[in-house]
Amino acid sequence: MIRGRKVNPICEITSYLCASEYIQSPSIHPDMKVTVIGAGAVGATCADNIARAGVCTHLVLLDIKEGLAEGKAQDMQQTAALLGFDTTITGSTNDYSKTADSDVVVITSGIPRKPGMTREELIGTNAGIVKTVCESVLKYSPNTIIIVISNPMDTMTYLALKSTGLPKNRIIGMGGTLDSSRFKYQLSQHLGCSASDLNAIVIGGHGDTTMIPLISKATWNSIPVTQFLSQEQQDKIVADTMVGGATLTKLIGTSAWYAPGAAGAALVSSILRDEKKLFTCCVALDGEYGLHDICLGVPVVIGKGGWEKILPLELNAAEQEAFAKSAAAVRSMNEVLG
Ligand code: APR
Repeated sequence: MIRGRKVNPICEITSYLCASEYIQSPSIHPDMKVTVIGAGAVGATCADNIARAGVCTHLVLLDIKEGLAEGKAQDMQQTAALLGFDTTITGSTNDYSKTADSDVVVITSGIPRKPGMTREELIGTNAGIVKTVCESVLKYSPNTIIIVISNPMDTMTYLALKSTGLPKNRIIGMGGTLDSSRFKYQLSQHLGCSASDLNAIVIGGHGDTTMIPLISKATWNSIPVTQFLSQEQQDKIVADTMVGGATLTKLIGTSAWYAPGAAGAALVSSILRDEKKLFTCCVALDGEYGLHDICLGVPVVIGKGGWEKILPLELNAAEQEAFAKSAAAVRSMNEVLG
């Protein structure tokens, strides 16, 4: 028994064998509740990953579209016997009372981009949705931690911070976590190595032109990747990372969901298990990196308190310039909210 909950012996064994860093087989069931708002592609994938990880007892999927969340919740629940998790998954059509006392709420509601669109073009529709959702969430879960995935993510995170009035540590934008994983994918393709052997982060905004993949700091198990890559290869990796989402949108016809959903779930796991993992997330800067009154992607420690610490980085002149430009672009997007 762990924290008064039963341990599934099969899952205990498989958790040692599981290759994924984040999505481990369930071994503990702390009495935790998570809500995912938006049961579309990203929301459902995020919920699926959370259920498989076995990090919470209750998982609520909520959507405005009649029956969608109930249907997906039931479908997901029917994988429990196959995958060996005990999380109870509830679907809800816009009934926030079912989300009451959530420890973490993940917001994915909103429209995705279509080929040729930037994330920034979604602001008109998504700002209204995210604001309404935040108000409803807060009514039933005043002590929750909010993870924002809806785009444009930097501005939606800022909106969540301002509209909820929650302490800044409890508002986390997911973008850099996804972008860093995409950066590792690009690096692994060129290096012919395991993506999980790489340390590489993307800071700044979560836009095609505002994100900054820090190739100068990327390592292959502590060896600088720049030792193995020509300047031309490095430039290509950075450029392909920056348009990683747009590339998929063009291929699929709508924006991607597997990696965004997995990134959201990785943050949820780090919070509920108090893992204190280092992720790049969009958080409120209050003097850090020389900025105030803005939410932007920087390295943070994620644990039970939400984002618990912002870590400093020594940026070279070009990176500093890119970071300042990124901040200016995000700031002007935030002004549109007004
Ligand atoms: N409340 C709850 N759910 C809502 C609301 C609302 N006010 N408005 C829209 N939704 C739901 C839609 O009904 C839909 O099921 O949000 C869901 C969005 O799902 P998709 O259209 O499949 O979009 P998805 O690909 O999941 O992207 C969602 O995440 O990565 C970002 O850019 C992406 O902003 C987009 C968001």
